[in-house]
Amino acid sequence: MQIAGNTFVITGGASLIGSHVADRLLAEGAGGVVLLDNFSLGTPEAVAHLDGDPRVRLIKGDILRVNDLYDAFKGAAGVFSIAGFLTLPLSQNPSLGLAVNVEGQVNVFEACRYAGVRKVVFSSSIAAYGEPEGDGVIDETAPANLAGYQPGSMLYSCSKLIGEALCKLYAAKHGIDAVALRYSTVYGERQHYRGVNALAIIESYDRVMRGEPPVLPGDGSEVHDYIHVADVARANVMAMAGEASGEVFNVVTGVETTVKRIAEIVLGLCGSDLAPVYRDDPNAVKATSSASLKLSREKIRAALGWEPEVSVEDGIGRLIGWIREREA
Ligand SMILES: NC(=O)c1ccc[n+]([C@@H]2O[C@H](COP(=O)([O-])OP(=O)(O)OC[C@H]3O[C@@H](n4cnc5c(N)ncnc54)[C@H](O)[C@@H]3O)[C@@H](O)[C@H]2O)c1
Repeated sequence: MQIAGNTFVITGGASLIGSHVADRLLAEGAGGVVLLDNFSLGTPEAVAHLDGDPRVRLIKGDILRVNDLYDAFKGAAGVFSIAGFLTLPLSQNPSLGLAVNVEGQVNVFEACRYAGVRKVVFSSSIAAYGEPEGDGVIDETAPANLAGYQPGSMLYSCSKLIGEALCKLYAAKHGIDAVALRYSTVYGERQHYRGVNALAIIESYDRVMRGEPPVLPGDGSEVHDYIHVADVARANVMAMAGEASGEVFNVVTGVETTVKRIAEIVLGLCGSDLAPVYRDDPNAVKATSSASLKLSREKIRAALGWEPEVSVEDGIGRLIGWIREREA
């Protein structure tokens, strides 16, 4: 599908990821970008920089109200289905979180069918794999291993697996092209406090700015695959533009970074000589907490030519630069 000249809807348009997808679409010449959000988690501030662009329309709408979607999707070539509850907000409000992630996703597809939308790119998560087994490479054929997961993470994983199944169902049954993207830990400018693993970055920064040391779980050897939001946005737009349909793709760096290394990067960028302290919070909501997480990005490279461009050092530098700019 051509991006230039076409109109796209982003559900959850005021989100971390949605706001960057909007930037990318506009940079690639999209004719219109409709940002639909009910601002239950995100705020209009995330897209305030787009005020005044005649191609952008910000709509207060709810994916749980299908009529809101019928109106917003009219004339759209594609929809980025990004609105959703992450593990933390889902754990706090399972009733609403499950409704949004499951029923809301059904509404998105029904409205696409009604409005003649040609393609959906759905925001899924590597949480769909659950806790990694062993230390082998995880590609899209790996089964979900949810047995050891905390209940909140398990609910989130299941809701994303349902979203992926809806992509395949509507692609096969109704001819709506649909692709699901499984992101790892997304971070970057416009960072929020809702991503359980990205908290290692933003909370460490906040603590260091208060003159307190970063607090790390265990011995700091827990690893995550940190992916910058600009790389995620580019993957979304490439998935919309490409031919693939009915497929799931990892959107990951393939690089394991310990939480200890994250703290070192933050301390270095802040010019601080504080040393991290190691302390477990038994009440913390957790997703994976493994010392090994080898995710494959081969499938999306081969199908769409996507590869990450931002290293974790540069990405955290960009995030901290954004915070400082805002504070100034
Ligand atoms: N951030 C990550 O690390 C990460 C990783 C994997 C997958 N994802 C998925 O990517 C998507 C976006 O993540 P994010 O970090 O940008 O999230 P976010 O919390 O910043 O954004 C979610 C957005 O959805 C909106 N929303 C919630 N309920 C809605 C409803 N009923 N109608 C309309 N809008 C509604 C919220 O107001 C918010 O702006 C989510 O679906 C998430 O599950 C995120």
